[in-house]
Order: sequence, then structure tokens, then C-alpha cells
Amino acid sequence: MSSKGKESANEIPYELPWVEKYRPKTLDEIVGNSETIERLKVIARDGNCPHIIISGLPGIGKTTSIHCLAHQLLGDAYKEGVLELNASDERGIDVVRNKIKAFAQKKVTLPPGRHKIVILDEADSMTAGAQQALRRTMEIYSNTTRFALACNMSNKIIEPIQSRCAILRYAKLRDQEILKRLLEICEMEKVQYNDDGLTALIFTSEGDMRQAINNLQSTQSGFGFVSGDNVFKVCDQPHPILVQAMLRSCLKGDVNSAMEKLTELWDQGYSAVDIVVTIFRVVKTFDELPEYTKLEYIKEIGFTHMRVLEGVVGHHIILRLILAFDRASQAFSMADQSNATPSATPSWAAGLPEPLSAPEGITAETLAEFIKTGSKTSGKDYVVVDVRRTDFENYAIPGAINLPAQSFYPTRTGVVSVLSNIPLVIFHCQSCGSLTSRGRTVAAYYQDVLNEKGITTSKALYLEGGIKGWIEKYKDDGSLAIKL
Ligand SMILES: Nc1ncnc2c1ncn2[C@@H]1O[C@H](COP(=O)(O)OP(=O)(O)O)[C@@H](O)[C@H]1O
Ligand SMILES: [Mg+2]
Repeated sequence: MSSKGKESANEIPYELPWVEKYRPKTLDEIVGNSETIERLKVIARDGNCPHIIISGLPGIGKTTSIHCLAHQLLGDAYKEGVLELNASDERGIDVVRNKIKAFAQKKVTLPPGRHKIVILDEADSMTAGAQQALRRTMEIYSNTTRFALACNMSNKIIEPIQSRCAILRYAKLRDQEILKRLLEICEMEKVQYNDDGLTALIFTSEGDMRQAINNLQSTQSGFGFVSGDNVFKVCDQPHPILVQAMLRSCLKGDVNSAMEKLTELWDQGYSAVDIVVTIFRVVKTFDELPEYTKLEYIKEIGFTHMRVLEGVVGHHIILRLILAFDRASQAFSMADQSNATPSATPSWAAGLPEPLSAPEGITAETLAEFIKTGSKTSGKDYVVVDVRRTDFENYAIPGAINLPAQSFYPTRTGVVSVLSNIPLVIFHCQSCGSLTSRGRTVAAYYQDVLNEKGITTSKALYLEGGIKGWIEKYKDDGSLAIKL
């Protein structure tokens, strides 16, 4: 292939894929997941290998670990003492019965205290039937043969096999870990790169070392230089720089320019999924976004992703996302002003989840009419709940009860069980202005519980204008405002 490849590997006429060329040979060379690898090293040293399952995402060293372990356990006897069955091999019930059984019965000379090893790579692709056939075999021959399974999801392995195995879970590799390995390979292959290029490789690989190394090699052989731009061309992914620029426009409230940038990506031919996925990855690590906005954005991205996966793939779906971002940024600045604190989550709600419902308002006039005319009875047809921070301040609405917002969330199910027969539960705080005000948030928590439990006999409302608006209108009317 390229002249470089020939230089660095004279004896081989074609360039070996680097993932294979640099596949670790011993457990020591595997990067990341150090605690788990440490356990494997102990097994490799002491010899009594249990049946094991290694599970985790693709490209993080599962297959490699099992091979290294088997090599270190068996040494020269590896060839004779290991049976490897990959996903591409036939692994139905018969194979499990015959091939594995024949191997298990075979006499092989092994180092003392060692066992034959059956490697089942990507074991989660085996049918449940084949796995069932395996469990008995595992047991019968366990004094001579041990099983090592690799899989992406350990829950795809049937329970009885799981319970016979030590399960080792591999985590996604960290950026630093991937970087370390990439630098080593760049050094050995004399790759020309800049920092942007490495950052792009890490960004596009998402913790998958195989992908990172493959992309490194593709960029090198395609362009001869690993820069950010080249990596994104090779990976055919939207460039995060453009996505970042788009987010900056969103933050500034410049919807038009955000839409232009997105349209630019769309015109480059990326699909809605490509774009949404890249937006997600960029948002996740974008420091310029305040935490609250980031969470809102991620929520919106989630919804959009879902719609895209459901088959809505037009340009409009991502443009819609920008509008949602814009709304979220605005809600942020509103919340900011009304709380007069720099943090977006009001302090009383810190650590609490965001409610799902958005209850409607009821006007002061409507509520005043209930009270004045007696058309609805407080405590039976409706109840007013004051959720201000302290006890009632200055004035209260007749019949109101007081449940401070900060203790509402943990006690919400109890509150619902008491109030669930009251058709209208009207919450208010000082002014109930923004969505994140105490009154509206607590109303939403209440409604959430109703929805969760399927209760339809009660409904949450918030009082428009809060107690502040109420006092302005009715403070001189003793039947509507109780002076405290
Ligand atoms: N933890 C790791 N340390 C070093 N190289 C790794 C690691 N994980 C993956 N690789 C590289 O990626 C290739 C594929 O790894 P493999 O073990 O087959 O991944 P999988 O977890 O999908 O079984 C290896 O040949 C190696 O080059
Ligand atoms: Mg594998």
C-alpha cells in the first residue's frame, strides 16, 4: 500500500491493519480497566482459572484479554489447549455438543495445574438453545476445561451460565488511555500529527480503541497527516467545530445563524442521525454551556433522537431542535432573573429532578369567585396550597394550607394520598412567574404523582400572579385576604 507501510514492515508486503499489528500480546500491554486486568493477571499467575465472562462495549480489549490470558496460562501448549469459537463459526447446539465435547475429552499435555480453555467470543450472539446445551458441558468437564466468554451484554447470556462464571465488566476506555496508545502507535509508525488530530480521533472513537486505531491508520494512509479536518473527513462525521459554532449562536439567541450553520451540515449530506449524534457528543463536553442549559439541551436532543429513530428524518426535525434549544436558553435566563442567583436551579430545588408536567394556571378572578359566591367549597372542591419558603407571609388566602416547597418533593406521595379526592389543587408561591418558580414546580411535582398513579380525581393548577398578584387585588377584602 503506502510507501510508509513498506518501510516500517519490510518483511510484510502489504500493510497489516494496525489494530492487529499492535494487538497487545500480554496482559501488561492492555491499557485501561486496570483493576479488572489485575485480577486476570493474578489468575494468569496462579493458574486456577475460573470460567469467566468478560463483558463490555466493542473495541476495549475483551477478546485481546482472553487471548493474552490463555497465552500466559498455557504458554507453548496454547495451540493444543485452546479451542476458539467465534461468532462467525457455526455455534449451534450440535457444535456445542460435539465439537466442544470432543475437545473437552481430548488428552492434552498442559503445564501443571492448568486447564484447557474454550474461548467463546461474542457469546451473546449464541442462541439461548446453544447456551443451554453449554451449561451441562461446562459442568461435566470443568475439572479439565475452563470456559472464557466475551460479550457486549452480559444479560444476553443465560442466567445458569452467568452463575457458573466470574463476570468481569470492562468500562469504556478513558480519553487519556486512548491517547496514550495512539501516541505510542504514532511514534512507532512515524505518523505526522497535530493535537487537533488526536483530539478528533478521541472524539470520534468514543472510548472504542479499535475505532481510534483504525481511524488513525485510515487518516494516515489517506492524507499522510493526522489533523482534525482530515480525521473528520475520513470518519465522515459532521465537524464538531461547526456544531460548536451553532451552539454558540443558540446561546446568544441568534436562531437564524444557528439554523444557517445546521443547514450547512445538512447540505454536506449528513443524515439527521449523524447530526443529532454529533450534537449530543459536542453538547456533552461543551464547557461554554451552563449546566442547566446543557441538561435542557440534552433532554431535547434525546427527544429529537427518538423521533429520528422513529423515522422522522427531514431537515425540519433538526431545525426544530434549534427552536427547542432557544426556548431552553430563554427559560434559563428567565429563571436566572427571577431567582436573582447565578445558579439556574433554584437553591431550594437543588438535587431534585425536574418535573415532567406543566400544569395550567388559574386566574385570581376565578379563584376569588369560588370563595365569594361559594360555588365551590374549599377543602372539598378545591384547596389552595401555599408553598412559599417560610410560613404565610403577611397575607393568606382563606382556607389555604401551607406546604413549603423545599420539603414538598420528598413528601409528595403522602400529600397526594391526602388530597387526591379534591378536584382542584391550586398551588401558589410569591408570584408564580417563571416555570421554575416554587408554585409551578411544586404543582408539577403533584401532577407528576397523579399521572404516575393514574389518578384522575385531582388536578394541579397554579395561581396566576401568585400571592403577590392576589394581594394587589384583594388585600382590602377581608373575605379574600387574611391579614396575618
Ligand atoms: N485496552 C486496550 N489496550 C490496547 N489495545 C486495545 C485495547 N482495546 C482494544 N485494543 C486494540 O483494539 C483491537 C481490538 O480489540 P479487541 O480486544 O478485539 O476488542 P473487543 O473488546 O471488541 O473484543 C486490538 O487489536 C487492539 O489493537
Ligand atoms: Mg471481541
